[in-house]
Amino acid sequence: MKTDTLFILDKLQGKIFEVITEEADRLQLDTYVIGGYVRDIFLRRPSKDIDVVCVGSGIQLAGAVAGNLGKKAHLSVFKNFGTAQVKYKDVEIEFVGARKESYNRNSRKPIVEDGTLDDDLNRRDFTINAMAIRLNKEGFGELIDPFNGLDDLDDLLIRTPLNPDITFSDDPLRMLRAIRFASQLGFFIVPKTFEAIERNKTRIEIISKERIVDELNKIILSPCPSVGFELLEQTGLLEIILPELVALKGIETKEGVGHKDNFSHTLKVLDNLARTSDNLWLRWAALFHDIGKPRSKRFDPKTGWTFHSHEFIGMKMLKDIFQRLKLPLNDKLKYVEKLVSLHMRPIILADEEVTDSAIRRLLFETGEEIDDLMQLCEADITSKNPEKVRQFLRNFKLVRSKLKEIEEKDRIRNFQPPIDGLEIMEMFNLPPGREVGELKSAIKDAILDGEIPNEYDAVYAFLMKLAEEKGLKHPSH
Ligand code: CTP
Repeated sequence: MKTDTLFILDKLQGKIFEVITEEADRLQLDTYVIGGYVRDIFLRRPSKDIDVVCVGSGIQLAGAVAGNLGKKAHLSVFKNFGTAQVKYKDVEIEFVGARKESYNRNSRKPIVEDGTLDDDLNRRDFTINAMAIRLNKEGFGELIDPFNGLDDLDDLLIRTPLNPDITFSDDPLRMLRAIRFASQLGFFIVPKTFEAIERNKTRIEIISKERIVDELNKIILSPCPSVGFELLEQTGLLEIILPELVALKGIETKEGVGHKDNFSHTLKVLDNLARTSDNLWLRWAALFHDIGKPRSKRFDPKTGWTFHSHEFIGMKMLKDIFQRLKLPLNDKLKYVEKLVSLHMRPIILADEEVTDSAIRRLLFETGEEIDDLMQLCEADITSKNPEKVRQFLRNFKLVRSKLKEIEEKDRIRNFQPPIDGLEIMEMFNLPPGREVGELKSAIKDAILDGEIPNEYDAVYAFLMKLAEEKGLKHPSH
């Protein structure tokens, strides 16, 4: 990539950079914008996080910049880290003094010393993130690119500036960052860097789960997430972070019959879904939808390979995984559990005759998530046989139109029977218990099966008839 000074100058326009230049010159501090912000200028990705490095005190410069920007600027100082942040409108600017850093092997706590700009660029993760642009008036807009990061940007390469073993042992999270950038930007990891990830993979164990999940989320949200997951698998990192996914890999053959490779199938489903949805948790559900397959796999000499109940086995595995990775155990877990456990339902429906009662039951159990479930199921069709794919999609269309029709007619999505347990107890003077439960589910089934409409009068009449059969007395009669 040729450096076009005018292009860079154009990106450094505006009040914020003007004020940084003014204060840096006044304090006589050599000052640069650095890292991801510079990379994103060349990638033409707009960014609101600006990293600024000066040779001297970053905190002093931040204070001066915040003062100059006036009331709208908000300054936070992190003395222990020697950094400061200025928030101005919707932009966040991080200030830090240039550093020379080395890390203790068993922790992430760096031993930090003041350093030059070169020292600072040396200790960064990748060549594409180790570029700086000068902000002082003299030399404003000049690019400092000691590791030819610009060429690597051009060639779509992820490469560490130093020996990769050093860069990764300084901060093992960088192994995941390499894969995340490859997935997010469609870049390639150079062989030396890739091999170092393979060699250093177990060092990921000292990294906090929260930082790991941040990177996994970014991989999942990338345009073609399979790129990231293939790399995670090839480097051996996936076996450490999510062995349940690695267990999906492989094809077993018995009596000449093989099953599909469930790992590549899963990634295909995730990629398919990525084309239609940027819902992070729906994408997690796609990643986990077949996670129960290895545990449910059986070979039946008559029918071949089966994975009976894999959706329930998979759903039951999720809590442990979420706990281990410190993923949110609240409604997000419930959402993923629901989609994983129900993901076979529309497929079975589309395979058989689509009855109103089956559709009502699906709507009742899925509720608000019905559209997400249908999206997941459509992404789940990865057959190589185009005729089969067409047939499934045709049937899904039918399921979708039936869903719409029944929903309009019966409003099942957030369905609550018009007579609830409390009312039943009052009506027949019953204590809470099995009998009330039975009446409740009889009402629910009658509505879902279409025997009676979802309306008070019909349910009342149905209940009276049922009570009579059971010999229950209505006190007011
Ligand atoms: N950096 C690093 N090692 C890390 C994290 C960050 O060397 N483990 C450096 C890189 O130079 C990076 C910069 O710090 O460009 C800023 O990091 P960060 O804001 O976390 O990431 P970005 O590269 O800006 O990318 P993104 O915003 O997409 O996370």
